[in-house]
Amino acid sequence: MAENSDVPVQKDKLIIFDTTLRDGEQSPGATLNIEEKLEIARQLSRLGVDICEAGFPIASPGDFEAVRRIAEEVGPLTEGRKDGQPMVIAGLARANQQDIDRAYQAVKAAPRHRIHTFLATSDIHLKHKLKIDREECIDQVIKAVSYAKSLCDDIEFSPEDAGRSDPAFLTVVLGEAIKAGATTLNIPDTVGYTTPEEFGWLIKYLIENTPGAEKVVWSTHCHNDLGLATANTLAGVRNGARQVEVTINGIGERAGNTSLEEVIMAVHTRPQNFPVEVNIDTTQIIRTSRMVSAYTGMPIQPNKAIVGANAFAHEAGIHQDGMLKHHTTYEIMRPETVGLSASSLVLGKHSGRHAFRTRLEEMGYDNLNEEDLKKAFDRFKRIADKKKVVTDADIEAIITDEFYQPREIWKLNYVQVSCGDRVNSTATVSLTDPNGAVLIDAAIGTGPVDAVYKAINRIVEAPNILTEFSVQAVTEGIDALGEVTIRIQPENGEGYTTNPQTGAQVVRTYSGHGASTDIIVASARAYMSALNKMLADRAEEAATIQQKAAAAA
Ligand code: KIV
Ligand code: ZN
Repeated sequence: MAENSDVPVQKDKLIIFDTTLRDGEQSPGATLNIEEKLEIARQLSRLGVDICEAGFPIASPGDFEAVRRIAEEVGPLTEGRKDGQPMVIAGLARANQQDIDRAYQAVKAAPRHRIHTFLATSDIHLKHKLKIDREECIDQVIKAVSYAKSLCDDIEFSPEDAGRSDPAFLTVVLGEAIKAGATTLNIPDTVGYTTPEEFGWLIKYLIENTPGAEKVVWSTHCHNDLGLATANTLAGVRNGARQVEVTINGIGERAGNTSLEEVIMAVHTRPQNFPVEVNIDTTQIIRTSRMVSAYTGMPIQPNKAIVGANAFAHEAGIHQDGMLKHHTTYEIMRPETVGLSASSLVLGKHSGRHAFRTRLEEMGYDNLNEEDLKKAFDRFKRIADKKKVVTDADIEAIITDEFYQPREIWKLNYVQVSCGDRVNSTATVSLTDPNGAVLIDAAIGTGPVDAVYKAINRIVEAPNILTEFSVQAVTEGIDALGEVTIRIQPENGEGYTTNPQTGAQVVRTYSGHGASTDIIVASARAYMSALNKMLADRAEEAATIQQKAAAAA
């Protein structure tokens, strides 16, 4: 069946609530700095997301500042948005006054803002985590929602672990939340326990049995522990939910959250099955996915639906033959619908600046200034010298490597290695320090990458532990670009962040990525990117402490 056929006339709006910057950032090791969060929030706005949950303001001064700046700088933006309305900026708060105050202070600068407060309702959580009974739970919800309502009109309440809560008890809690002023009720399957039939049933049951249900928007929030998050979310929509909470690439706690792109493309591709429509600009999906992957350091599995490298690739001969005869034989969505280009233009070393710029514009990178364009073009030329054909995937990798990088505190000038099976691996590196001085050092390692990292460590002196190292080829072939993603943690364990649900202190992890036709160079670039993030975070924290001390004096 063709895309978008048989569209019913009357459709409700499905509100897209993106929690990449809050639940997504709770993925182990996905820490983002403020600039990265701002950049992602701007891209979410371009994508057409209705509500952006920008963070958990009480978690740390850094989280507060990120939400506040997103509210102030991204909150008013309307450019490129189908409905011409700016995004609602939401901040998460546990059900207590201090959290709610902090969330309100962070989001209030946005023209449209929301407080999202939550409290667990399952007996397991009440007994073991909160150590309160059901009566106390109801009491706390009424107090929290009423207090939030005294600050702002748009209030969302979530009964955490609703998927394992007693449905009848939920109708009581949620009825009280409506009376206290909640405008959206979000039903989280916090531990990804339910199946589509159960979750769909739960949404229907709650809408039919909660007093005042018709006054609020019902929302889904599913986790992917059993790989059912998208199916559960769509079951919720078919049973009356009109808001979905999702993340880009499905990142999030443990196995992740429902993935935005899967829900959007299911609704888009099979409109007959869903009584809703969305305001999303689907052509921004790939770009958003790529940006989130680069900044969080979470590579996308090649077979990931919609955004994986193989999602639109046809390998089997019989499939290729069918595709050549007619694309509908094996294709249910057109790649360009999600922002993958269908251009037949091949770029190589003879391509000029004009062709390169045209290709970038076709790929959605139409806002590069002259300086950035020059940087990207120089990089393209260097790659084209080594590779016969420069594909869109290569160009995406160049853009990611050049522009989705932290502020350069230390700069990598060059790296030179000598290695082999009968010699010690040695590396020489040259770096420019924050004051502009050029420093050169060398080291021996167990392999060339180890030698490079040791040489960098001798210069930068920022002890850390390498917790992850992965290399991916961007395209096929011996001359392919290699993309390296790494994660580091400060060796002395400094830098903690708080998990909003468990309250646990988690050691901060910094990711870095780099791309090059030489994987040793890509590894060095990735390491510098992670180190620069760690050092910037440290400098920010030192500045906050200094400000606090000055204010207290
Ligand atoms: O999974 C969950 O329960 C949450 C809530 C805070 C909404 O993320
Ligand atoms: Zn969650």
